[in-house]
Amino acid sequence: MNSAQFSPHFLWGSASAAYQVEGAYQEDGKGLSIWDNWVRIPGKTYRGTNGDIATDHYHRYKEDVGYMKEMGLKAYRFSISWPRILPQGRGIVNPAGIRFYQNLIDELIANDIEPVVTLYHWDLPQALQDKYGGWESRKILPDFVNYAKLCFDTFGHRVKYWVVLNEPNIFTQLGYLLALHPPGKSDLKTFLTTYHTTALAHAQVVKLFKEGQYPGYIGSSIAYTPAHAASTEDQDQQALENYYATNCWWLLDAYYKGSYPDLGQAYFKKVGAMPAVSEEDLQTLRQGAVLSDFIGINYYQTAMVAHNPPHGVGLSGLNTTGEKGSQKESGVPGLYKTVFNPNVDYTDWDWSIDPQGFTMGLIQLQQRYNKPVFISENGLGAFDKLEDGTIHDEYRIDYLRRHIRACNEAIAAGVDLWGYCTWSFTDVFSWLNGFRKRYGLVHIDFESGSLNRTKKDSFAWYKRVIETNGTNCLQGGE
Ligand code: BG6
Repeated sequence: MNSAQFSPHFLWGSASAAYQVEGAYQEDGKGLSIWDNWVRIPGKTYRGTNGDIATDHYHRYKEDVGYMKEMGLKAYRFSISWPRILPQGRGIVNPAGIRFYQNLIDELIANDIEPVVTLYHWDLPQALQDKYGGWESRKILPDFVNYAKLCFDTFGHRVKYWVVLNEPNIFTQLGYLLALHPPGKSDLKTFLTTYHTTALAHAQVVKLFKEGQYPGYIGSSIAYTPAHAASTEDQDQQALENYYATNCWWLLDAYYKGSYPDLGQAYFKKVGAMPAVSEEDLQTLRQGAVLSDFIGINYYQTAMVAHNPPHGVGLSGLNTTGEKGSQKESGVPGLYKTVFNPNVDYTDWDWSIDPQGFTMGLIQLQQRYNKPVFISENGLGAFDKLEDGTIHDEYRIDYLRRHIRACNEAIAAGVDLWGYCTWSFTDVFSWLNGFRKRYGLVHIDFESGSLNRTKKDSFAWYKRVIETNGTNCLQGGE
């Protein structure tokens, strides 16, 4: 495919999330989040690891922004911890929490780095979980809208890019279907109902943003896993249709079309799991879809899907150990299953590495939604080794280079791509995988507890990407 130029305004960024970096989990008046409690239940996270301290970004943010400045980063995507600024989720505001984010935003702007702010990256105030079951109840909607309004009113004059929700598909799927995230439930209808509630939350917040005429751009970030059929056989092709209708398009249409795919609806009705969706809901979703400025996409991998008979495999858990090859087949009996893809490499956590699939997925988005796209996460989770005082992460550079090239090919094919954030800037706490699965361009010494920062080889390489506006990634480049 031809290559295109990245626009001179392309947002070369890097990302993080509050719970994964901040630490200070009960400092300066912060309330507890559902993750602060979840990590304390034995067996829920890898070897009981938690984000109590994480990278201590709360205290070291200036040092971190210093590294971002040195790299020439154009944008830094981070999330606000809802319970840090509203300890009970509503009501009394915590001034120390507000001050922390004000300072962080000031520091970024002073260093010419565009803040990209996520309102919700999974750390729901525990108080709201206790009060009405969190996302399971529509009572969350006014609370979330008020929290968003507080953020827009407080930070809106400095922040131009807003991500309403991070991966609502992942936190609802892992929280309400696979029982791997809080609140640890497993019920298809509850998952779909909860997901629908997140879509309403997105739409209401987008409406508020536009009606309030806050300056800037708004969208939500969906974890997008495009797929290939395992063969050209009709049964596998049908499985691919089923996968998209109940997965990718189900998730993305709710946010960016304001509807749900017919084929998916037929299936979920058949199994009695279709959530209650009123005409008024659909109207709200449609408004949210039209008013959203961009589609946020977190892309890591593709899936390969195959026919799965009615008594075939069901859902399986995730490889959280880093033992390559330990991921089991997973599927929905009668619809599809995901299988090993012989055409691509895999990470140690069995995530496929498929830059071509990334280009394909971006083109599909363009065709289906015809909206600008912002890549809010892309990166490689790996075991890194500290050698000669640094990390020679050629494998990460290779992954990122190929994916940036894939973005370029998508642009050449007509995709309106606004920016690209690597996941993650520093190493972070990786939810279920502890601290061993590293994504950062900056290494954190978790082992000794010093939390010292060390630039990896990928740091200097990404600096060049930014300096050359991506041209060093194109064919024949470094
Ligand atoms: C996304 C999340 O799911 O992928 C991040 O938005 C997360 O918070 C990242 O860390 C990588 O996932 P994991 O499970 O490997 O940390």
